[in-house]
Amino acid sequence: MRIIHISAECYPVAKVGGLADVVGALPKYQNKVGANSSVIMPFYNNKFTRAKKFESIYHSKVKLGSHELNFDILKIEDSVLDFDIFFVHIEALLYTEEVYVDNDADRFLAFQIAALDWILTLKEKPNIIHCHDHHTGLTPFMVQECFKYKPLSSIPVVFTIHNAQYQGWMAYNNLYKLPMFNIENVGLLLWDGMINPLASAIKCAWRITTVSPSYMEELKYKANGLESLLMHEQSKAVGILNGIDADVWNPETDTYLIKNYKKSTVESGKKANKEWLCKQFNLDKSKPLFAFIGRLVGEKGADLLPNALDYALRANNISVLVLGSGFKETENRLFGLIPQYDGNYNAYIGYDEKLSHLIYAGADFLLMPSRVEPCGLNQMYSLRYGTVPIVRRIGGLKDTVVDIGDDGFGICHNDVSVQDIINAIHRATDFYNSQNEFKANRKKIMTIDHSWELSAQTYINLYKSIN
Ligand code: ADP
Ligand code: GLC
Repeated sequence: MRIIHISAECYPVAKVGGLADVVGALPKYQNKVGANSSVIMPFYNNKFTRAKKFESIYHSKVKLGSHELNFDILKIEDSVLDFDIFFVHIEALLYTEEVYVDNDADRFLAFQIAALDWILTLKEKPNIIHCHDHHTGLTPFMVQECFKYKPLSSIPVVFTIHNAQYQGWMAYNNLYKLPMFNIENVGLLLWDGMINPLASAIKCAWRITTVSPSYMEELKYKANGLESLLMHEQSKAVGILNGIDADVWNPETDTYLIKNYKKSTVESGKKANKEWLCKQFNLDKSKPLFAFIGRLVGEKGADLLPNALDYALRANNISVLVLGSGFKETENRLFGLIPQYDGNYNAYIGYDEKLSHLIYAGADFLLMPSRVEPCGLNQMYSLRYGTVPIVRRIGGLKDTVVDIGDDGFGICHNDVSVQDIINAIHRATDFYNSQNEFKANRKKIMTIDHSWELSAQTYINLYKSIN
């Protein structure tokens, strides 16, 4: 079975968040179970692309209405990735340092049209087109409705919602940029008077998936305006829990760590990594280390962290380290706490892949007070590294973390408030002080299996059901 994933992000080429991790792992695990799975993504001007050599395998022009732009399809020379990856190179639009810039509409529309133009030319067409998030949300419509893609219209298109908060809204007057279609069907592109790529994908894809079963349920009641649409389309929708790439996220082999470790050596391993972190960030290594890693946005509850941490640091004997970037105000407030809690608190404002691995390894607890969490990968990474997740019961967090009070292994809270975070930190500190129990739990969580094998097969079964 030939599968092509269309995505704006893919690890290790370009990563902003979990979308990249998923698109960088799912094809690899699909290939392990006998599929022929590949990825097509934009060609950005970033560290990864600058360090590699690429060859052009196709050249043409992409049309956005009457505007024509040159594009190439590139492949990496001597790729060592576990799946084929193709790049749409449109110098004028996509070749930016950042994955996302303001006014992305034309960029991702041109990307999708160029990708489909190229797929049209393939002798061996894919058996499945799998699109991810709103950046690829117009593809299901175009495959089904645009005259020039008629030869592709029998290929089933699957669409995965990683995050329904972002929908890619475009003003109605952008319609002319799409390849010709029957205007009577324009409704398939629209929601609330705008072109809404996410809504359009939900209407037109053969199957919709979300990245956890709980998120699928939640979307019927809270989907940033698309609740009724999801309710209406629920018969073709299913929640499939993400996995983690157990080769990349493995404390035994992770080359970013100061010291590698496995279940039997978890105490000494975590100690060495914690000591390194505490030294680098001027933290007290004798105290339980709480960490936060992620985008500093409302969805992640990051705006509540400054007040919650301020209180928790005063009330408890703890160390805290934050890694993230996002809203300037939250960044400033988190940064501003450093002098106040010198020696017990620090924040690295920015993105640092290596540091994130070191934190999963060196921290004792990982905070995830998310308002919305379609799946969440951080809690699964933290489990694998023996770090106890502290999560709000929502979306994928609800599906992957069970509270210690329910015979589980993590700390869960129901709501997102400063008080909930403070209470959870307090419970975690008590748990840490019961060292025997805490250490036994560390070993237990390292063995929880969230590898991709099962979910990769579940996707294949889904594809087979529509092929
Ligand atoms: P989301 O995709 O909503 O941001 P996920 O939990 O699915 O959340 O995935 C986040 C991914 O991004 C994880 O791999 C996490 O380690 C990584 N990450 C987030 N922020 C940073 C950062 N500032 N530095 C390094 N890695 C980060
Ligand atoms: C999105 C979600 C996150 C999920 C990730 C990968 O970014 O916010 O919860 O883990 O996609 O599916």
